[in-house]
Amino acid sequence: MFRKMDDDDDDDVPQLSSHTLAALQEFYLEQQQKEGMKTCQRFNKYSIGSIEEDWQLSQFWYNDETASCLAKEAVLAAGKGGRIACISSPSVYQKLKEEDGEDFSVCILEYDRRFSVYGEEFVFYDYNHPLDLPENLLPHSFDIVIADPPYLSEECLQKTAETIKYLTKGKILLCTGAVMEEQAAKQLGVKMCKFIPKHSRNLANEFRCYVNYASGLD
Ligand SMILES: C[S@@+](CC[C@H](N)C(=O)[O-])C[C@H]1O[C@@H](n2cnc3c(N)ncnc32)[C@H](O)[C@@H]1O
Repeated sequence: MFRKMDDDDDDDVPQLSSHTLAALQEFYLEQQQKEGMKTCQRFNKYSIGSIEEDWQLSQFWYNDETASCLAKEAVLAAGKGGRIACISSPSVYQKLKEEDGEDFSVCILEYDRRFSVYGEEFVFYDYNHPLDLPENLLPHSFDIVIADPPYLSEECLQKTAETIKYLTKGKILLCTGAVMEEQAAKQLGVKMCKFIPKHSRNLANEFRCYVNYASGLD
């Protein structure tokens, strides 16, 4: 009598008991759950780019290094327990939150309502109405105000400057085009820093940072 090859093979394959099989399945399930948790932890709602650039709103995000530098500068300038306002500069806000420092508080003033995912720290802001701010944003209540106005125009800078001067206790960190140097000095008394901010995409315009205090950006 002939036997099928398969029959022979089946005999040689080691069989797992139902108990061992169940234990193995449980092990694989646990592994899958752990991997799933790792993936969730890797997704950080504060990472730059988690909200994509909308060029209609003149959105050009800093690269990670620049956002980090500006965030560190803000924390140092604000001092222990300081308050930081990020006007039209959401990447700096995101970086500050990502680094999860507890020794400062921060507010994001933004026109793009997608950033309202950040809850109470989000304040809707339109530079066309520079002092149209919620009552709880008291005048001169921020240790440092960082701003990156959406347009390289005198009007946009002048209006944003109104908000900056209203909110700051004194310190200002402005990021805008190199062409705005004269206007920035006139409106806010800020000087160009050596540090050159970089964006995640190459932009045609040259950008610079400007401050009115002795910063670490020189
Ligand atoms: C040149 S981008 C600066 C972003 C900065 N480079 C960053 O990475 O955080 C200008 C910012 O102004 C915001 N913006 C657009 N229209 C605005 C308006 N009418 N009033 C205030 N901000 C506005 C954009 O959403 C954007 O965040």
